[in-house]
Amino acid sequence: MGRTELTDFIRFLEDSPSVFHAVHTIAKRLEQAGFRRLDEKNPAWDMAPGGSYYVTRNDSAIISFRLPEKKPECLKIMASHSDSPCFKIKPDPELESAGCIKLNIEPYGGMLKTTWFDRPLSVAGRVLADTEEGIVQKLVSVDRDLLIIPSLAIHMDREANEKPMTNVQTDMQPLFASAEHKGEFMQIIARAAGLDSADKILGADLFLVNRQKPYVWGPSDEYISAPKLDDLMCVYGTLMGFLGAPAADGALTMHCVFDNEEVGSRSKQGAESTFLTDCFTRIRESLGLTFSEMHAAAQNGLMISADNAHAVHPSHTDKADPVSRPRMNGGIVLKYHAGQLYTTDGVSAAYVKKLCGSLGIPVQNFVNRSDMRGGSTLGNIANTQLSMNTADIGLAQLAMHSSCETAGTQDLDYLVRFAREF
Ligand code: CO
Repeated sequence: MGRTELTDFIRFLEDSPSVFHAVHTIAKRLEQAGFRRLDEKNPAWDMAPGGSYYVTRNDSAIISFRLPEKKPECLKIMASHSDSPCFKIKPDPELESAGCIKLNIEPYGGMLKTTWFDRPLSVAGRVLADTEEGIVQKLVSVDRDLLIIPSLAIHMDREANEKPMTNVQTDMQPLFASAEHKGEFMQIIARAAGLDSADKILGADLFLVNRQKPYVWGPSDEYISAPKLDDLMCVYGTLMGFLGAPAADGALTMHCVFDNEEVGSRSKQGAESTFLTDCFTRIRESLGLTFSEMHAAAQNGLMISADNAHAVHPSHTDKADPVSRPRMNGGIVLKYHAGQLYTTDGVSAAYVKKLCGSLGIPVQNFVNRSDMRGGSTLGNIANTQLSMNTADIGLAQLAMHSSCETAGTQDLDYLVRFAREF
């Protein structure tokens, strides 16, 4: 992947410090490409054949689609997720201790907790403000080093290297300020949201942000390390492919980004919600299509669930399957799981391999070691709402769910090209 494209990907990451910012960033890029916003609260979705539209839910999930000129004969969906493991700030966040103010936080998703210690952190998310126009949502990103989660010195915990202390309530509350700044945290949030007082904030969804800037490295710039590559790398790659593709004759193409994958997808904006099928129903109603016509289009189509995959760790090669050994920059990873945590089967694998073959994109396989449980993703969960042939793919990365992850730059190019052709 060229430097220009990588710079654009880095900008996308930096524009997306929270799920709300990620969805806002995606929406902006869709608008620039001529997509029109639809509102779930509006009963009339005014759409025309050949048009391009998008809709958000909770401002943390987003579905965009292109209508074909004629009746859709086939449905092509790409799905990924906007969220990443992090820490959420509790209401009334300040805690006083030993002359300091700490913030009361709780974990969101299954992260590698030690990777959050001793590094500059900040806060991003949204607040709901009491204004003269009523309750208004505002995005917030405090663009400065604001917090740190300090380790306990080795002298006071001689087992720290063997048994790191990572109890979120007792060991990981981030340090904000000295005690004389009591009450100032929400004032900083209010100012960042353009409000004159913290009293105006009626609601908030605020998350810790790792301030680590994304960086490209390796002798030939072959690696990228950054927070939240899982799954913003697949979000970006599939979006760029989707936006770069010509209108597909007879196919209804959709790009879905769901929230809450890291906590099981069970929310109104997650993959287990009705968001996708609700959109499907409303498109059908607006275009005057029968249920059978849309059902047939779905059964004629394919869903690609794109969520990053594990590369074999060069220091822990025994943690991977003995035969399927994905590596960074080794191409699109097809993920298989007999217990159906991944959706890929013979049918969907064949389609992905044929498409990759026609583009000269290498394909790698991922399976768990047979004695390890492994992770899960959103494809099989989305299938419970909309049943259709689906393949789980991803890009191979290291340090999944660390606050800074590492992946291959060439793989991003593969995904963009794959998504465009799909
Ligand atoms: Co993921």
